[in-house]
Amino acid sequence: MIQETIVTSLSTDGQCHIAPMGVHVENDFLIILPFRPSLTLENITHSGCAVLSHSDDVRVFAGCLTGRRSWPLVAAERIAGMRLRDALSHQELELVRMEDNAVRPRLICRVVHTATHASFTGFNRAQFSVLELAILVSRLDRLPKEKLESDLAYLRIGFEKTAGEREREAWEWLMEPIDSRRRKTEGDGL
Ligand SMILES: Cc1cc2nc3c(=O)[nH]c(=O)nc-3n(C[C@H](O)[C@H](O)[C@H](O)COP(=O)(O)O)c2cc1C
Repeated sequence: MIQETIVTSLSTDGQCHIAPMGVHVENDFLIILPFRPSLTLENITHSGCAVLSHSDDVRVFAGCLTGRRSWPLVAAERIAGMRLRDALSHQELELVRMEDNAVRPRLICRVVHTATHASFTGFNRAQFSVLELAILVSRLDRLPKEKLESDLAYLRIGFEKTAGEREREAWEWLMEPIDSRRRKTEGDGL
């Protein structure tokens, strides 16, 4: 199982770095798989810990991918780290070991603390659409134009039917890099 979540990690100068990541759940371990180069990777290998914030506010996912990384944070409880203030729940992790890899190392972590802050209010199709769109944006430079346009048309269906304010704002942010890529490919005559 893979949980799409927000990973926070501290750099050597104490700055908190926020990145959306798909964290793999394997037995009692949570595995973070950052693609190199990655500040998250550097931070976790140095500090030996990380925090996962579970949030239904998809603006955080869309925001991190579009340069909007300043989200309210509060201190973690058991480790040196920060979590999203508005997370529904969070998990504090200790790095157990790293399985190194030139492309995508595996950071094997164990949970040292879990806390719930708000209740889950149900699935929302627009949130799924925004998450999938965020994944497309994270691969924009490698994505064929036809694949982008067909996936976008599909994601728009659930989005249009069910989005609230937060999902609409997140969608708009993600459409900025997509529109700029469209303009570029049109300008290049592709
Ligand atoms: C839903 C979602 C899941 C993601 N999962 C991963 C992941 O597992 N590994 C990764 O390296 N990047 C992932 N990304 C992209 C990163 O968030 C983004 O590239 C980020 O800048 C990572 O690099 P950093 O550690 O230097 O911040 C994901 C993005 C989204 C929207």
